[in-house]
Amino acid sequence: MTTPCDMLVFGGTGDLALHKLLPALYYLHHEGRLHPQTRIIALARQARERDAFRALVERHCRAQVARADFDIDSWRDFAERLDYHAIDASQRADFDRLARRLGPAEGRVRVYYLATAPDLFEDIAAHLASAGLAGPEARIVLEKPIGHSLESARAINVAIGAVFDESRVFRIDHYLGKETVQNLMALRFANALFEPVWRAGHIDHVQISVSETLGVENRGSYYDHAGAMRDMVQNHLMQLLCLVAMEAPVRFDAESVRNEKLKILEALRPIAGLDVKDKTVRGQYGAGTIGGHDVPAYYFEKNVDNDSDTETFVAVQVDIDNWRWAGVPFYLRTGKRMAKKGSQILIQFKPVPHRLFEGGEANCLLIRLQPEERISVQLMAKSPGKGMRLTPVELDLNLAQAFPQKRRWDAYERLLLDVIEGDSTLFMRRDEVEAAWRWVDPILRGWQEHYQSPRPYAAGTSGPEQAHNLLERHGHAWLE
Ligand code: BG6
Repeated sequence: MTTPCDMLVFGGTGDLALHKLLPALYYLHHEGRLHPQTRIIALARQARERDAFRALVERHCRAQVARADFDIDSWRDFAERLDYHAIDASQRADFDRLARRLGPAEGRVRVYYLATAPDLFEDIAAHLASAGLAGPEARIVLEKPIGHSLESARAINVAIGAVFDESRVFRIDHYLGKETVQNLMALRFANALFEPVWRAGHIDHVQISVSETLGVENRGSYYDHAGAMRDMVQNHLMQLLCLVAMEAPVRFDAESVRNEKLKILEALRPIAGLDVKDKTVRGQYGAGTIGGHDVPAYYFEKNVDNDSDTETFVAVQVDIDNWRWAGVPFYLRTGKRMAKKGSQILIQFKPVPHRLFEGGEANCLLIRLQPEERISVQLMAKSPGKGMRLTPVELDLNLAQAFPQKRRWDAYERLLLDVIEGDSTLFMRRDEVEAAWRWVDPILRGWQEHYQSPRPYAAGTSGPEQAHNLLERHGHAWLE
């Protein structure tokens, strides 16, 4: 069981809180991981009665939590912890009211989870400080994206840093809380098998691909200003890239892991000017069909500009300038309204140096993060019968089957527990976030300067043609 805690969620009635954070907290409660004195307080602008808020959360928990895990007694106890407090984040006086309502911390950890737009982060931190709510017991959680550029991210980091020292700042990237993403570290650093071949010389290229079938749902007004580069690449895909490419940390602790990730971010070859055209592809979905349903074009989505040129798809070739990875392209790709939902990492090895047999392909290691969690290695085997004909076969590890009795945790459950326990290993450090923006900013600028408007692709496909060309010219192809 964790330390007693006040969990305060700013943006407490938004999509993230209702769909992810509160159901995750319900699970933690249901499994006895929250201290009996832990309180959960949602904060948002609108005035609401506590009971109406609880009913709203119940509706969402019932929808998000597996039926077998939604226990009515458990829910009632959980609801007792839930409270609602109306606040205008721009009003200093509202924070004094909040302080009075909360009373003294009395040994509780105070977690402020900022599930709001990043332009409120600075105000909230400053007001928390001036209302005396940012003492040593307080921790702050920042949702991505942190800012919309290097400059804005720095300004946020400076403002937050003026109130909370770095050990109390938790920049969340929920991909790091995913079971398979952590398994990637187990695979690399707990098995001697892979390390000797995990480098240029043995690996031909790497693909990291995150496809979604969803569009922008109710988030059009945020997304239309962000786009896939800021929403997915700057954080989730770059974090995955770091975990694939980094050196083994000395210890599995926050500083050691993050030091190694930072070295990768600093070794990324900049993409700027005309290189942007050559190494990146941006796309935007048009109308199409997914799973038998017609879906509208992006620019017809709610709260999206009719002539929007925001990208909903990005493919990019990344080069890492260090000894381990010299000459090995990493291809990143993400898109909304693609044919299938799936996140995967493909490590494509080089062919054997000298062929003895007919046929045969190079080995590859495929790590599927979702929907299923699988790790498979493609090996060459002899086809039965006369002669030495080779056929690819798969060694396939399905993690859900390997641990059938274990419930798969949602990323937010783990990360919320880590915040309460003060463990920031799976969170982004300030310098990491800024290094990622330093690499992303010139690409965003290049798109603007060269008027690289997004290439259209029909919803329900694998993205624009140009994303395939990006690989084909090197003799590679996306694994679909
Ligand atoms: C979020 C993005 O961070 O990640 C969303 O803002 C995206 O646009 C989501 O849909 C994808 O997360 P997951 O866990 O469903 O792959």
